[in-house]
Amino acid sequence: MNDFYPIKVSQIQKETKTCSSVTFDIPQELQETFSYKQGQYLTLKTAIDGEDVRRSYSLCSSPVENKWQVAIKQIEGGKFSTYANTELKVGDVLDIMPPSGNFYTEVETTQAKEYIVFAAGSGITPILSIIKTHLALEPNSRFKLFYLNRNAKSIIFKEEIEALRNTYFGRFEIFYFLTKEQRDIPLLNGRFTAEKIQELTQKIIHIPSVSECFICGPEEMIFLIRDELETAGLSKEKIHYELFFSGQSEEDKKRAALAIEHKFDGTEVTIIDGGKEFHFGMEDDYDNILDGALAAGADLPYACKGGVCSTCKCKVVEGKVEMKINYALEEDELTKGIVLSCQAVPTTEKVVVDFDI
Ligand code: FES
Repeated sequence: MNDFYPIKVSQIQKETKTCSSVTFDIPQELQETFSYKQGQYLTLKTAIDGEDVRRSYSLCSSPVENKWQVAIKQIEGGKFSTYANTELKVGDVLDIMPPSGNFYTEVETTQAKEYIVFAAGSGITPILSIIKTHLALEPNSRFKLFYLNRNAKSIIFKEEIEALRNTYFGRFEIFYFLTKEQRDIPLLNGRFTAEKIQELTQKIIHIPSVSECFICGPEEMIFLIRDELETAGLSKEKIHYELFFSGQSEEDKKRAALAIEHKFDGTEVTIIDGGKEFHFGMEDDYDNILDGALAAGADLPYACKGGVCSTCKCKVVEGKVEMKINYALEEDELTKGIVLSCQAVPTTEKVVVDFDI
């Protein structure tokens, strides 16, 4: 499951000035391995300037299209995103890990569900996949999309979204929120705020009818919307969110610094992976188990190295670690001793972690 496969790029399209969609040609014999659910992501890997760079990108295509497409927004100083937007060509081969992720609910073809979805910028990618899939497979379900961008020009997939509105006329409503362009309706100008979400829940969203809510964007936005919807009466289980990494908050930085302060000098680490044990001593240069293990020659699964994707998760079976940040694991996983190895700073003399979970 954590293997990479060489896959050819079959199409690249500029969606906005700074965002390209990239479609992959998954060979027939790999289509089952690469089958996916709406809202899942792919991890891509390539060598850039001699360095192995991996990143995870949500699929914006839907499984019903029999297509594998991601959207990559160029971020300032972003190695992979700059490469994908400026150098990558049709016919190039990238190493790709099969789809993964939990940002979905099952399709229920006979149900009439009411979905509300919130996205900011490139956070639209998994949301678009979710919208397309449920609209196509649940003929009685409806969607309301609340989509935040800087201005009309920067709206990723605008044409495709509007074409969907026409195809599924009456079942799909779109509300564009713009931060750098003024329009006549004040509600739609500027970011999501508590007041705006309250206004939405009073005028546009009928909370008791909502079946599921999906949110994708930066952490702050997700938590604000989640809290306001919960206050308005939407139950927690109906709110699903996917974070896209937008840099650490001050609080995260403090937490990370504290974990590093507690690091034990020279922990003896044992990794259990594929039923085999691998031993190494943590070097001073590395603060987390994943980096320490990779430097010592271990071959372990990882993607974002930012505490977001959970590809690197393992279970602590002996000793203690402290996580710098955690955007990926749920409370019940934490109580089972599961940690993100890319964030796990060892704080005891000996630590044993198991990747076979
Ligand atoms: S590699 Fe993504 S959370 Fe560790």
